[in-house]
Amino acid sequence: MTERIAIVGAGHVGLVYAACLAEIGHDVACVDIDTDRIRMLQHARLPIYESGLDELVRRHLDGGRLSFTTDYARGISDREFIFIAVSTPSTADGAADLRAVRTAARSIAAASQHPCPIIINKSTVPVGTGDSVDHILAESGDRSFRVVSNPEFLREGTAVHDFFHPDRIVLGSRDETAACRVAELYASLEAPVLISDVKTAEMIKYASNAFLATKISFINEIAQICEAVGADAAQVAHGMGLDPRVGPHFLQHGLGFGGSCLPKDVRALAFMGSVFGTHPQLLNAVMQINADQRRRVLHTLRRSLGSLEGARVCILGLAFKPNTDDVRDAPSADIIHLLINEGASVHACDPQANAMMARLCPDAQYFASPYDAARDCDAVVLATEWDEFCRLDLRALRASMRAPLFIDGRSVFPRGELERAGFIVPDARSTPLFLRDHVMEAVP
Ligand code: UDX
Repeated sequence: MTERIAIVGAGHVGLVYAACLAEIGHDVACVDIDTDRIRMLQHARLPIYESGLDELVRRHLDGGRLSFTTDYARGISDREFIFIAVSTPSTADGAADLRAVRTAARSIAAASQHPCPIIINKSTVPVGTGDSVDHILAESGDRSFRVVSNPEFLREGTAVHDFFHPDRIVLGSRDETAACRVAELYASLEAPVLISDVKTAEMIKYASNAFLATKISFINEIAQICEAVGADAAQVAHGMGLDPRVGPHFLQHGLGFGGSCLPKDVRALAFMGSVFGTHPQLLNAVMQINADQRRRVLHTLRRSLGSLEGARVCILGLAFKPNTDDVRDAPSADIIHLLINEGASVHACDPQANAMMARLCPDAQYFASPYDAARDCDAVVLATEWDEFCRLDLRALRASMRAPLFIDGRSVFPRGELERAGFIVPDARSTPLFLRDHVMEAVP
């Protein structure tokens, strides 16, 4: 059955939901205060890259089931279902900034003309925010708004696929009828539906992301110990993952997690725990290990090259993960800043994210080809496992470099393969080389 839906927020999550809900038959209006963004979308031009999204947006704009507007009154009008999908960035102390959520709730209250609308919160919000939204809406007049928390679990790059193949649909509300109405929106998708209270639903989202982050920091700590004792971390992860209680996913060691969700959500959950009087030591350790993974690259480079003053380092991969141009909280950004701060110069290369990173790190030089980027460099750091980089001609890459260091930040290449191509792969047990200070000429 076609339902009339409004979505407040045309960001990554809002856009994917708008286009995908239209695809499963609903009539969707997407509202955002950013006039440039809405103008682009009205002409089917997307402000973000997400695989398969442009096709859906075009199809449903043309077919009339999807519309974009900056006018709350027009977009929301008498629609029964109103999603809040605005961003909740980190504040300086790690809390989630809820100003956009509150403003959206007030604007919805002023614009809605439906007698009993259901407000569905998609934004990742601290536990208890559903109740604040309820409060803002209740204060606004005599209509009864029903609030449902419906967290999203979309991964960037596969968000459209994830919408159509969810692992679960989580709905939290004090009004079970409202939660069931929202469940009906997704009736054509096959997934278990879990109905809980609002706070539990909000917590499921945070706990899920925090657990994924914990798996990554766990394997990174194990990988450090493996390196020190001489075990193969990739095989250890494989061996662990064969146990179904552990599972094979999120056990790839390397530079750790970045992006717009995992770092922000772990920080926000830890902050939330601490202001409620708990001591989230594990979450703090997860963040600390993740930050250290980035800094350790500098230590390894310094130990191998000697001083970084005047060194030239090539960073392959700038997006926080492959198949996106998103550089938010990407490990590469921290590494570039740290290198430049120590007097090194940086050659950077990414199939999609050069322009985005150039805004954050204007002092690096950007290249379209990894081979051009590596020319005359002292070291390569593989920071994102794009397909193109997993198929590198290692000998050709090595041939144009000044010194042959390779730091595989995503554990893509077996060590032997790198060494056969002439690279030196430094680790915690290898003797310090100080290539730039002493033995550069002797390097094979
Ligand atoms: C994540 C969650 O997966 C998703 O459910 C949620 O809704 C939003 O946050 P996303 O931010 O798109 O999705 O990234 P994800 O694919 O989860 O990867 C996060 C980071 O972890 C990336 O930087 C990735 O490189 C890193 N990672 C992932 C590892 O370092 N090792 C792994 O084994 C897996």
